[in-house]
Amino acid sequence: MKILENIATLYTCAMDGEQKDVHPIPNAALIWDNDSIVWVGKADEVPANYPINQRFDAEGRIVLPGLIDCHTHLAFGGWRADEFELRSLGAAYIDIAKAGGGILSTVKNTRKATKYELKEKARGVLAQMTALGVTTVECKSGYGLTTEDEIKVLEVYKELKTDVPNRLVSTFLGAHTIPPEFIERRDEYIDLLCKEMIPKISEAKLAEFCDIFVEISAFTIEEARRILETGKAHGLSPKIHADQLSCSSGAELAAELGAASADHLEYISDQGISDMAKKGVVAVSLPLATFYLCQPAIPARKLIEAGVPVAVSTDFNPGSAPSFHLPMAMMMACTLQKMSPAEALKGTTIYAAKAIQRDSEIGSLEAGKKADFIEIDAENVNHWLYHFRSNACERVFINGEHIHGN
Ligand code: NIG
Ligand code: FE
Repeated sequence: MKILENIATLYTCAMDGEQKDVHPIPNAALIWDNDSIVWVGKADEVPANYPINQRFDAEGRIVLPGLIDCHTHLAFGGWRADEFELRSLGAAYIDIAKAGGGILSTVKNTRKATKYELKEKARGVLAQMTALGVTTVECKSGYGLTTEDEIKVLEVYKELKTDVPNRLVSTFLGAHTIPPEFIERRDEYIDLLCKEMIPKISEAKLAEFCDIFVEISAFTIEEARRILETGKAHGLSPKIHADQLSCSSGAELAAELGAASADHLEYISDQGISDMAKKGVVAVSLPLATFYLCQPAIPARKLIEAGVPVAVSTDFNPGSAPSFHLPMAMMMACTLQKMSPAEALKGTTIYAAKAIQRDSEIGSLEAGKKADFIEIDAENVNHWLYHFRSNACERVFINGEHIHGN
């Protein structure tokens, strides 16, 4: 067994309690065996009978569960810095999309890219995410939009799973937008999604979730219901990009379908909030996208007060959120969304695990859970997110293995 000692404070981030309850243990120790946590508690209460054969010194840092980025579009071809310039000069995201840019421009580049190119680019990003303390990453397809190209991206994730230390969770987002060749016959694209892509992807076990972008420029509520119901019938749990640019009742549909999460939600209605609370749907907030698109923030306080768990994620993608810096997203959850640092922490640990249906395995530091944990050079969580630095993460452990830092 191995022990981590000299921890200033360990935040277990166990599920119980409210969003603000991250369950700090001052002067803590953590014991694990192989890939699983055996014991967590106060250093002076470590049971004497554990056969410890390796000791690690946290040097007075704080220890957190490995961070979970529960919403990313990890693999894509090209970038869109030209659109960033256009938006800086006043162009609207939605107008760029209507003119054939936006998601469709990345679709062109992703179709052109080889599996190898996509994989190596994603691998580089994952290494940098890991250094920031991110141990689990949800990864969406959605820039292929043909059966072949969607499968290509999902296979990139499948292959990466076997050669990176991070846990990767795949989501099929073939319903990201209508591809150009189907603009005049959208029903045929929806048939292709339901009759070919979903069955094939589910059969090949290439995804666990089925996501959709419900928006004026993408899919309607009725189309979403059909696609997500089809996904469910094939064993893919629903997720929705909902109420991002306008109020379109995506949150209500997420509740109706028992979705794992509804994401974005800048324009969520009061009805959407109460429906999500009733059904226990996680709200995934994406403050980097809100910030890059200069949008009003998600009403996080209203959601939290209604009892909706609010996760925090990057939405890393080449358009609305070209950054994978999860601690920066957490800092912005505090400044833009008026969440406390502790609330943001619960949003990137156990609530993020719930958004990807992994909360029985990861997301908190408790006996029986996977030994995914990180050491942060800060005196407490408030100080970490307040004194924002490029990287305060000193060491990363995944599955009990020391995989980053000295
Ligand atoms: O989550 N909202 C839809 N999809 C992405 C943006 C994709 C893009 O701009 O390429 C998002 O923000
Ligand atoms: Fe997204």
